[in-house]
Amino acid sequence: MSILYSPIKIKDIEIKNRIMMSPMCQYSAKDGHAKDWHLIHYGSRAVGNVGLIMFEATAVLPKGRITYGDLGLWTQEHVVRLKHITNFIKKQGSVPGIQLAHAGRKASLRLPIDGDGPLTAEQGAWQIVAPSAIRFGDNYQIPKELSICDIHSIQESFANAAQKAYNAGFQVLEIHAAHGYLINEFLSPASNHRNDEYGGSFENRIRFLMEIIDHVKFVWPDNLPIFVRISATDYIEESWDIEQSILLAKELKKKGVDVIDVSSGGLTPDAPVKYDFGYQLGYAERIHKEANIMTATVGMNTTAEQGETILRNDMSEIIVYGRELLRNPYFGLTSEKVVHENMEWPVQYIRAKI
Ligand SMILES: Cc1cc2nc3c(=O)[nH]c(=O)nc-3n(C[C@H](O)[C@H](O)[C@H](O)COP(=O)(O)O)c2cc1C
Repeated sequence: MSILYSPIKIKDIEIKNRIMMSPMCQYSAKDGHAKDWHLIHYGSRAVGNVGLIMFEATAVLPKGRITYGDLGLWTQEHVVRLKHITNFIKKQGSVPGIQLAHAGRKASLRLPIDGDGPLTAEQGAWQIVAPSAIRFGDNYQIPKELSICDIHSIQESFANAAQKAYNAGFQVLEIHAAHGYLINEFLSPASNHRNDEYGGSFENRIRFLMEIIDHVKFVWPDNLPIFVRISATDYIEESWDIEQSILLAKELKKKGVDVIDVSSGGLTPDAPVKYDFGYQLGYAERIHKEANIMTATVGMNTTAEQGETILRNDMSEIIVYGRELLRNPYFGLTSEKVVHENMEWPVQYIRAKI
């Protein structure tokens, strides 16, 4: 009996298997609006038997976008287009989730296809914001330090977007607190030099995120799951690390967060990460065991056997596949051969099932 293909129930949502599609920016939206690309892209993974389809980082405000191609969720029109996609995903028996984000000092970048790095004024750069006026790297804009009033307004934007996400039919909400974006910038002492209640001590640095969870919980129904993606470590001295991540996970659990989606890095351009299968798994396992909370593990997961082994050893509850699902949208169907499970295929494709 495969655990990878066993259902998991989180609050009132049953996910048909433990395969989650990692949130991956498509840089294909216009003014934050989903396009045909998003319907086909996410729809194919639903046809391909992915249990939980986590939509890419979706900005809560126009200025919180990484690029002009990011999805956004700040108007009713955004809701209408996304609802069309979530309806299709649900019809295939998959669960649609959405990652809400604000890019902080890593906003206002060029589309990857135009070359990495910040937009110039001629290309339409906008004023970026962060907990402190410390830039991400050479050639990047120096962000404006957020006032207390700005902080509260951004927190409300997360709640507005969460309400819209619910209206758009999403059943799982993920808050993006990883990869050096705004929330991560508050968590990490390397990017947060504030002297007020949002900087300094661990309690102060996690306050921005904790209050976002409070705001979101006002509008997001109690019976639907909340995930938080974190970077377990910044990989730099005197900054955010796994010990603080475990403490944070304990606090998030008390607030009613269901799953910690465990990633790493992104706060600085030059973090010494060694990408290999399992490079983040140890962090997910420690958070799962020491904070006694469900985790989703991501990073170089490419096969069903890897997922099966992680689950059998109780290292994590959900296996997140990123680039493997870009290469193979039908991974969740074709890996059946590997784990010998007899699961349902879309009726349209049954004659291809051998
Ligand atoms: C094209 C692309 C876009 C990504 N966009 C996001 C994103 O929107 N949010 C996020 O948390 N991570 C993002 N990531 C990171 C992935 O979600 C994932 O954590 C990473 O690729 C490692 O998993 P993998 O080895 O299975 O691909 C992105 C990765 C790629 C390749």
